[in-house]
Amino acid sequence: MAAAVAIAAVVVAAVVAAAASAAAPASAGEPTRDVRWEVGYMTVAPLGVSQKVIAINNQFPGPLLNVTTNWNVRVNVQNNLDEPLLLTWDGIQMRMNSWQDGVAGTNCPIPPGWNWTYQFQLKDQIGSFFYFPSLGLQRAAGGFGPVTVNNRAVVPVPFAQPDGDITLFIGDWYTKSHVELRKMLDDGKDIGIPDGILINGKGPYSYDNTLIPEGLQHETVGVEPGKTYRFRVHNVGTSTSLNFRIQNHNMRVVEAEGTYTYQQNYTNLDIHVGQSYSFLVTMDQNASTDYYIVASPRFVTNESRWHDVSGVAVLQYSNSKGRASGPLPDGPNDFYYKSYSMDQARSIKMNTTAGAARPNPQGSFRYDSINITQTFVLKNELPLRINGKRRRTINGVSYSPPETPLRLADLHNLTGVYKTDFPTMPGNAPPKMASSTLNASYKGFLEIVFQNNDTGVQTYHLDGYSFFVVGMDNGDWTPDCRSRYNKWDAISRSTTQVFPGGWTAVLVSLDNVGIWNLRSEKLDNWYNGQEVYVKVADPLGYNITEMIMPDNALYCGLLKDLQKPQIHQVNSKSSAQAADRWGARVLAMVLLIIAAVVSI
Ligand SMILES: *[C@@H]1O[C@H](CO)[C@@H](O)[C@H](O)[C@H]1NC(C)=O
Ligand SMILES: *[C@@H]1O[C@H](CO)[C@@H](O)[C@H](O)[C@H]1NC(C)=O
Ligand SMILES: *[C@@H]1O[C@H](CO)[C@@H](O)[C@H](O)[C@H]1NC(C)=O
Ligand SMILES: *[C@@H]1O[C@H](CO)[C@@H](O)[C@H](O)[C@H]1NC(C)=O
Ligand SMILES: *[C@@H]1O[C@H](CO)[C@@H](O)[C@H](O)[C@H]1NC(C)=O
Ligand SMILES: *[C@@H]1O[C@H](CO)[C@@H](O)[C@H](O)[C@H]1NC(C)=O
Ligand SMILES: *[C@@H]1O[C@H](CO)[C@@H](O)[C@H](O)[C@H]1NC(C)=O
Ligand SMILES: *[C@@H]1O[C@H](CO)[C@@H](O)[C@H](O)[C@H]1NC(C)=O
Ligand SMILES: *[C@@H]1O[C@H](CO)[C@@H](O)[C@H](O)[C@H]1NC(C)=O
Ligand SMILES: *[C@@H]1O[C@H](CO)[C@@H](O)[C@H](O)[C@H]1NC(C)=O
Ligand SMILES: *[C@@H]1O[C@H](CO)[C@@H](O)[C@H](O)[C@H]1NC(C)=O
Repeated sequence: MAAAVAIAAVVVAAVVAAAASAAAPASAGEPTRDVRWEVGYMTVAPLGVSQKVIAINNQFPGPLLNVTTNWNVRVNVQNNLDEPLLLTWDGIQMRMNSWQDGVAGTNCPIPPGWNWTYQFQLKDQIGSFFYFPSLGLQRAAGGFGPVTVNNRAVVPVPFAQPDGDITLFIGDWYTKSHVELRKMLDDGKDIGIPDGILINGKGPYSYDNTLIPEGLQHETVGVEPGKTYRFRVHNVGTSTSLNFRIQNHNMRVVEAEGTYTYQQNYTNLDIHVGQSYSFLVTMDQNASTDYYIVASPRFVTNESRWHDVSGVAVLQYSNSKGRASGPLPDGPNDFYYKSYSMDQARSIKMNTTAGAARPNPQGSFRYDSINITQTFVLKNELPLRINGKRRRTINGVSYSPPETPLRLADLHNLTGVYKTDFPTMPGNAPPKMASSTLNASYKGFLEIVFQNNDTGVQTYHLDGYSFFVVGMDNGDWTPDCRSRYNKWDAISRSTTQVFPGGWTAVLVSLDNVGIWNLRSEKLDNWYNGQEVYVKVADPLGYNITEMIMPDNALYCGLLKDLQKPQIHQVNSKSSAQAADRWGARVLAMVLLIIAAVVSI
């Protein structure tokens, strides 16, 4: 794995003597948020079992990146893990700039002990997003954190200024490490049912001590009576859809992944892996006790233990008269209302009169009057065996990531790294492993239909874009289904669920040149090959419709000889554990030895 990046480069282990920063000029006139993040392991026990998690500057979840539309961001990432690292920015569009997207198809990984600086502008975006480590199941160990993009003061927001801002990360959690989980998948096994659900990296409140031992640390959200808060909730889990609810409180949904929604109250909401929402919640109860905040599993196998597992945090008014007790508030009951979740998903719509980060109000973008220029029907199915390995596919192809990032290969005119022959429709060809991409025409209007032939809910995410979720139903999609699309106020977002045995259709305006990752947000499916890159090329656009490659780009794979030597800071000031510091030193020595051996 670590072989990915030019080990041949001379690695100098020393406390850094700051080198001149080699960066493209930041966009003039806009402020720059400049941060340094040390990514390393930390030992915690959210479910009572000590385990190594990925922390950033000793925080788990990682620090908030709090910025305003059009600001520039520089994030200097120091990799203190023992594995290659890339951070990706879920929902951040990286306009004309897939160089900063932080996935294996666009960037060489940052080797252990090295640092690398991301540099990008948050062009025309508002909303609640998150970052996470994109390689090899690392998100299952943490490394995620919030990106909040505030609107500029001159841009109106379609609701009164909330009295506070609360970010919650919900997600299923394993006490096994991401390395063990990876091994299980490599061995052709399932990763099995999770051990619990965390809220902000903490275990459940012990609302029932026969189910949850006392003494686990849980999250408490302190609030003032009568005030209204904006909750930003992200499902950063491995593979479980969650139902989110706050006991006795209405949640007014106001934003989904960067788009203002048509505001409606919900008492609970299904949030699938990789999805983000903002809710306004007014503290209008009498505080006779604290209240439960619950994230419970959805669409899980019929296994009683897992049904009883919930993430539970506590909402505490400043005038609260006592602890929360009694049963958790009920989640939805699909037994009596089978289409509950799909009906709820369809009810999330765009507010067509609300302004947005971009100059044109969203409502003026009449997507229904634009002709579709290209259609992809992407079908996933149950896992199958390819060359004896258990893999997952889209249209029969299980993605095999080349060592050389696709965009870098193109820039250097390397042929043979990948092919642009990914099937745009399901077919009958035998399943295969391949490094194939989809061609999409720049300035076209693309329809993607996701067809889910698996028995679980799927979620798909597209980097670089936000798409209109125009349709969702059971059964097989046919062109006739287009007549039932939402032609007016479909939500525009970057992550959508696809129900088992059903389809979801999205429309994308292809205005962002680059090579963009389209993936299953479920980490096990992604790891097993359910991803593809969509190449939106403008052959004459380099340095015009697409930014040039940054000076600090790392080289690897076939291009590793181009990697220039770097000076590295290997002491890890931030590691919480002495053991981790020791680990970093050993690592530095190992790197030195490798460097010495290679240079002989
Ligand atoms: C984030 O930035 C906004 C705007 O600058 C500011 O009002 C807010 O207090 C900040 N939030 C946090 C948690 O720092
Ligand atoms: C690594 O960090 C040092 C010190 O903060 C910085 O000067 C340098 O530019 C960084 N290198 C890269 C490639 O980002
Ligand atoms: C839609 O946005 C407008 C304009 O900001 C706002 O006044 C209105 O309350 C919003 N309506 C809903 C239902 O969200
Ligand atoms: C939505 O919830 C808020 C807060 O509980 C409440 O004041 C409001 O009346 C609700 N609106 C509707 C339409 O139910
Ligand atoms: C507070 O609200 C709860 C739930 O609505 C109700 O059962 C209880 O009687 C109320 N207590 C007081 C003191 O008003
Ligand atoms: C779930 O399991 C219970 C007990 O084993 C069984 O009675 C029930 O029919 C199962 N439900 C489904 C939907 O398979
Ligand atoms: C869309 O296609 C129709 C029929 O092919 C054509 O008449 C119309 O002009 C097209 N609209 C646009 C905006 O290109
Ligand atoms: C790639 O090919 C283009 C067009 O022929 C050429 O301008 C460019 O210099 C080549 N790039 C490299 C790195 O060889
Ligand atoms: C994809 O685009 C490239 C470059 O324009 C072209 O050479 C190739 O034939 C296209 N592939 C397909 C399958 O259309
Ligand atoms: C998968 O596809 C097959 C063949 O089209 C169909 O018979 C089966 O019902 C599908 N299963 C699901 C879960 O969609
Ligand atoms: C990009 O364009 C600018 C302005 O035309 C030019 O000065 C620069 O050399 C170009 N850079 C590359 C890498 O083509």
